[in-house]
Amino acid sequence: MENKTYTSNRRRVRTNVHIRELAATVQLSHKEFIQPLFVEEGLVAQTPIQSLNEMNTDTIESLLLQIHTDILNGITKFLIFPVPSAKSEIKFDFSFVIKTILAIKARFGNKVWIAADTCLCAYTSHGHCGILDPTGEIVLNNESVIVLTDYALQLARAGADCIAPSDMMDGRIGAIRQLLDNNGFDDVCIMSYSAKFNSQFYGPFRDACKSQPNKENGLRDRKTYQISYFNAKDAILTALRDAEEGADIIMVKPAIPYLDVIKELSLTTQLTIAAYHVSGEYQSIELLAMHNGIDREKAHIEIWAALKRGGASIIISYAARHAKNWLERNQSV
Ligand code: PBG
Repeated sequence: MENKTYTSNRRRVRTNVHIRELAATVQLSHKEFIQPLFVEEGLVAQTPIQSLNEMNTDTIESLLLQIHTDILNGITKFLIFPVPSAKSEIKFDFSFVIKTILAIKARFGNKVWIAADTCLCAYTSHGHCGILDPTGEIVLNNESVIVLTDYALQLARAGADCIAPSDMMDGRIGAIRQLLDNNGFDDVCIMSYSAKFNSQFYGPFRDACKSQPNKENGLRDRKTYQISYFNAKDAILTALRDAEEGADIIMVKPAIPYLDVIKELSLTTQLTIAAYHVSGEYQSIELLAMHNGIDREKAHIEIWAALKRGGASIIISYAARHAKNWLERNQSV
């Protein structure tokens, strides 16, 4: 008798919804989602972001209403991106986002979990994520880390539950962890944008945040600090380095083009992994759905399932606020 390991009839596990549910290797819950939010200084009312379907830029007041609605839709975790009105080369005014976080925490307290994006690109006149040297050719690592570390402490003091550095400077996770701990913020966690690639898919976001590198002479792109998509090993090493420096969550960003990195990290480390389905990835689905090419809800769910299979436990998506409804509606696997 032949000793068979596998049954040849694979369709048995696809026969009906019950067996498909039982045989599923991943599940999705809206509880694993983080919703990005944009808040802009000097704005008079909530304004749609043209390049990002259904997403808005908020005033502090409209943001509070938005969060209230999101909570009703089952979303309690947020990632805040500030758009300050003043841009500068070296001295930055973080007071607008501080005010925003204070207002959110005053209204919602611990009903919400607030991660604060920690970067300089929305603050610098040239749009880079750190401070430039006088030639305009080099992003200065240590000078930028000092500013980011101070920024992180201000965010923690305002009540941020999580610091999320997206600048990609070396050594900022260790520096931020130490300063937070020294000031009694040892319960504030760090979600590091660790495997952050130099991607085309950030385009719509940069429109929203007015953070496009814009130097006519000098450094024009982020290749000297964001990871090359030809170098997966750099992504793994950077993420493991951030883990050693004290990151609680490591992020892979964008998500789908870097599923290999998510998978490898999930096999290499026990740390929580977040996948950021970024603006360009989101918008490509939205545009296809608008042209009746795909079912919007099912397409997003398909992507989310892929991220879970890859090993991500947290999904950051512009459609996070729909996750609960969509998953309920499209429940059958
Ligand atoms: C930079 C930052 C970027 C995003 C979040 N923080 C992109 C960049 O300009 O490098 C992108 C998010 C998205 O595209 O959704 N600090």
